[in-house]
Amino acid sequence: MRIDHDALIVGAGGAGLYAALELSRAGVDTAVLTKLYPTRSHTGTAQGGICAALGNLEEDRWEWHMFDTVKGGDYLVDQDAAEVLAREAIETVVELEHLGLPFNRTPDGRIDQRRFGGHTRNFGEGPVRRSCYAADRTGHMILQTLYQQCLRAGVRFYDEYHVVDLLADGGDLGDGGRAAGVVAYRVADGTLVTMAARTVLLATGGFGRMFRITSNAWSLAGDGVALAYRHGIPLEDMEFYQFHPTGIYGIGILLSEAARGEGGYLLNDDGERFMERYAPGLMELAPRDIVSRAEHLEIRDGRGIGGSDYLYLDVRHLGRAVIEEKLPDITGFARTFLGVEPLKEPVPIQPTAHYAMGGIPTDVRARVVRDELNTVVEGLYAAGECACVSVHGANRLGTNSLVDLLVFGRRAGRDMAAYCRAGTARPDVPDEAADPARAELEALASRRSGESPALLRKALADLMMDNVGVFRDGGTLRTAVAGVRELRERYARVRVSDAGTVFNTDLLGVCELGYLLDCAEATAAAALARTESRGAHSREDFPERDDARWLTHSLAFRGDGGPVLRHKPVTITRFAPKPRTY
Ligand code: FUM
Repeated sequence: MRIDHDALIVGAGGAGLYAALELSRAGVDTAVLTKLYPTRSHTGTAQGGICAALGNLEEDRWEWHMFDTVKGGDYLVDQDAAEVLAREAIETVVELEHLGLPFNRTPDGRIDQRRFGGHTRNFGEGPVRRSCYAADRTGHMILQTLYQQCLRAGVRFYDEYHVVDLLADGGDLGDGGRAAGVVAYRVADGTLVTMAARTVLLATGGFGRMFRITSNAWSLAGDGVALAYRHGIPLEDMEFYQFHPTGIYGIGILLSEAARGEGGYLLNDDGERFMERYAPGLMELAPRDIVSRAEHLEIRDGRGIGGSDYLYLDVRHLGRAVIEEKLPDITGFARTFLGVEPLKEPVPIQPTAHYAMGGIPTDVRARVVRDELNTVVEGLYAAGECACVSVHGANRLGTNSLVDLLVFGRRAGRDMAAYCRAGTARPDVPDEAADPARAELEALASRRSGESPALLRKALADLMMDNVGVFRDGGTLRTAVAGVRELRERYARVRVSDAGTVFNTDLLGVCELGYLLDCAEATAAAALARTESRGAHSREDFPERDDARWLTHSLAFRGDGGPVLRHKPVTITRFAPKPRTY
């Protein structure tokens, strides 16, 4: 089966939907395909807010937001991109409000704002209220708002179409070819669909499922990231993976940083607000890498609750009104998943794998670039968590993710519209374009015996959690590199038990496992190579940041014997690197 559109967007989260809206408004024939139903996209689980220097409650400036982003990212941020982010956050949030997003309000009717980690006033003087929010379900509201607007604008949706390959014309994507569409598997009946397009946006989200404890939904398997990698696009800064300090103990579901933004405490077994020891200036509102490390050290030093491997998030003192009005979902999660009543008891938490700072390299127009010279891949775009523009550098600040995906999703849509309007010829997509994907799927689907995909997936999640976690060192990283290589070999013998074509989630789960292995391979290799500590990459054997050697982005290219690593310079415009203290 074959379908043609001018613009094709893979993924229906905030980045994909915002791009689709911009394209449709520009009159471009636009389609979105998603392996889920659009409003189940992971943006919908974002809780605490979207930051923009609106200054609704106190003075704020986009320059301060930019500075916080650069410092928060431990100076690995590309500062041209951070400037775009901080400036355009403001108009993007205002536009969202005009599109109908029901933000919480101040008494005089403006968008309410609250504190989040690492967001400060006047270049680091103290916390500032910058995060605009809709209770603790901001992402849900963004998704609903954008989806409704896309339907209104006539965007064509292909729900439950799972992308399994990327198409290129004139060579592979990493080798001078241009984007030409994708191959998708229709989940309902197993039909393979060739979807041709002039321009393609990858907005497939992250890959947190390569870890055991994660805030990410089951679907976050790095589909777009892995497919780009397989087609010769390098992956940038994969060694920087964020652990959010407050995942529900044992399962990792997010308890928003908004709880601390509203004044919640983190406590150890002695009842101590232990952040005093690690970030006396910002305490619980220090950036996430610092708080997660502090938690890890508290637990390692025996101050976990009852000597165990968790700590407490305490919001009791905030009172019922704040909790019910501003934190209703997360307190509900504590009741549902832990049987804990947050009005009366502290909630057990631990760091949870949350967000990939790295991904598919792009420029500030969201165009995918394929090397250290930033050579643009014609017609191919990426935005949101799957992309690395790079505004987060070595560590993302809370609420900068929603801004990133909306600002750069919007930019992608605008640039793709201009690209289509320029009258670019349709790429050549022959009828046999889907043949490689078909052959691969048929080979997988025919293997009835062999390795269990569930056991391989668990082994991968354990390997990454135990060896590429909050702290790493050369030993754990070598274990991870070797372990991923071994899992790849076992994956070549993986079995698919379901022989059917209708909702064959067994087969698709095996495809996702392949994507996760690609992401894990690049992550472990880049982490082993980077012999310094920076942001979320904390090497116990190299505890210091090393700007002389490592103020540089990593690029992991897929190679026969494992990833080949190269580097590209960090763009520094306004803020020279300094020691990072809070
Ligand atoms: O804690 C949170 O609400 C998460 C926000 C984010 O990751 O940006």
